[in-house]
Amino acid sequence: MPLSWDQPIKEELRMVEEEIMRNARSGDPLLTEIATYVVGSGGKRMRPGMALLSFRAVGGTDLEKTIRAAAAFELIHSATLVHDDINDGAETRRGNTAVYRKYGTQRALITGDFLFVKGFRLGGLIQSDIIVEMVADACSRMAESEMLQTMTENDACMPLETYIRIITGKTAKPIEASAQVGAYLGGGSADQIAGLGTFGLNIGLAFQIVDDILDIRGKESDLGKGRGMDILDGKANLPLMIAMQGHYPSSARLREIYSKRGKTEEEVNEALELVLATDALDVAMGHAKDLRLKALKGLEALPESEYKDALRALADTVLARDR
Ligand code: IPE
Ligand code: IPE
Ligand code: MG
Ligand code: MG
Repeated sequence: MPLSWDQPIKEELRMVEEEIMRNARSGDPLLTEIATYVVGSGGKRMRPGMALLSFRAVGGTDLEKTIRAAAAFELIHSATLVHDDINDGAETRRGNTAVYRKYGTQRALITGDFLFVKGFRLGGLIQSDIIVEMVADACSRMAESEMLQTMTENDACMPLETYIRIITGKTAKPIEASAQVGAYLGGGSADQIAGLGTFGLNIGLAFQIVDDILDIRGKESDLGKGRGMDILDGKANLPLMIAMQGHYPSSARLREIYSKRGKTEEEVNEALELVLATDALDVAMGHAKDLRLKALKGLEALPESEYKDALRALADTVLARDR
């Protein structure tokens, strides 16, 4: 059986889980309930995995700070999901009702802020200016990209360059930071930290492209979130852009649907079918595969180890995943 990416760090991930749950607690019982609802409902824990594997792959042994950093990344990520679901009007997340649907928008906003600040506090406890800067810069880029995404909503002619800028900020930068922080805390050389940054960034880009593909062809029961959301919302989605902007018989109709503000369920389903009938999903997956190869080059500065193998397995999982 092929190695699963979490196999060599199972114990570390368990410790991260405890740290996450500890930090979801508040003096306010309702806030604790909602925060625990978010972080306790699963999630792939890919960002903590990236940090821990990067730490181990450069030979890191002093775990305590890295556990904190890994939990901080997941708390911040969870916070962004709570806010993202408000922005995207999503119904479900991690197989459950989206927080703002269950508890209302006000309480979801507050819980997102709470998780954000708990993540930052935990990261700050490491007492490293460099780490604070890496995490804050990644989060700023995320906010900027989310803003850019709102400017390009329903724009069927969005240039590919803009798409890349959006996914770099909203998804790849935080994953890059997870890898860099892990490598830094593990005492990696400048080359190794940069190499793991390259790995994280390119895996992050591939991860979002696969997320886009799954938004079109995934199964909601696997995803734990809705399908067709990007079409409904007119949000950046690579296969959709390829199908809309290419020279397919359905391209014009797809542009027409995508540009609408308020699409019906029939229109969303029609658009999904039209994209599925093109080769746009394969073309998009081709880009994700290229990015995987670019990512793997970043691992060249690392000695062979079970952790390096697990990083390769993580790259494979990102491409092969159905959730
Ligand atoms: C969802 O991230 C948001 C994206 C960047 C696509 P994940 O797919 O990692 O979500 P969880 O943490 O596993 O729920
Ligand atoms: C990722 O984009 C957003 C964040 C970085 C929070 P999506 O909006 O595509 O993520 P999902 O599909 O809702 O998980
Ligand atoms: Mg979303
Ligand atoms: Mg998505």
